[in-house]
Amino acid sequence: MPTNSTERDRDADKTGMTEEKPPNSTGEVPSSVEEAFFDVRPSKGLIVIMSGPNLDILGSRQPEIYGTATLEDHLSLARQVVAAAGYELRHVHSNQESKLVEAVHSLRGIAIAIIINAGALTHYSWALHDALAAYEGVVVELHLSNPLAREPWRFLSVIAPVADGTIMGFGSLGYKLAAEAAVELARRRVEQSI
Ligand code: DQA
Repeated sequence: MPTNSTERDRDADKTGMTEEKPPNSTGEVPSSVEEAFFDVRPSKGLIVIMSGPNLDILGSRQPEIYGTATLEDHLSLARQVVAAAGYELRHVHSNQESKLVEAVHSLRGIAIAIIINAGALTHYSWALHDALAAYEGVVVELHLSNPLAREPWRFLSVIAPVADGTIMGFGSLGYKLAAEAAVELARRRVEQSI
């Protein structure tokens, strides 16, 4: 049990809610991690990057495979693309499958596109597959490495059948490419709906 506030803060970070805490609709920083994670403030053009298990340790995690850039480095590349296109980018990360499923639910009717690097959940999370199947916006699947050039258990993606497309194997360039794809597909969806 945490015995002091420092330990409690550290334990709170272990919940997987490493997301920066954006202001809520009243302009205040959300007071709880739950509030920050399920940030469903309306937005004119919201694109969300979702990061699954172990992506929070990019930079030090198997750099020979994933490189030395941190998740924040990757996000800032995507942020530039999304901001230049006039859209808003938010990011959610969790190491927990259920949190990601609930985050997808919370984005229905809120986000125009989801870019998802589901980490290892890519290969077996039918729950995430089903959640994304029920999401009406654009879905871009993203991987830093090329799972098809790795161990056979990585060859199956259960996210791919419910994604508009997949970007993989381009390292950190992938976040830029995924953001460009999400912006363009989102634009087309908006045009089609007018
Ligand atoms: C990954 C590939 C997955 O197979 C792996 O489990 C990851 C990262 C990638 O970005 O290359 O955690 O999604």
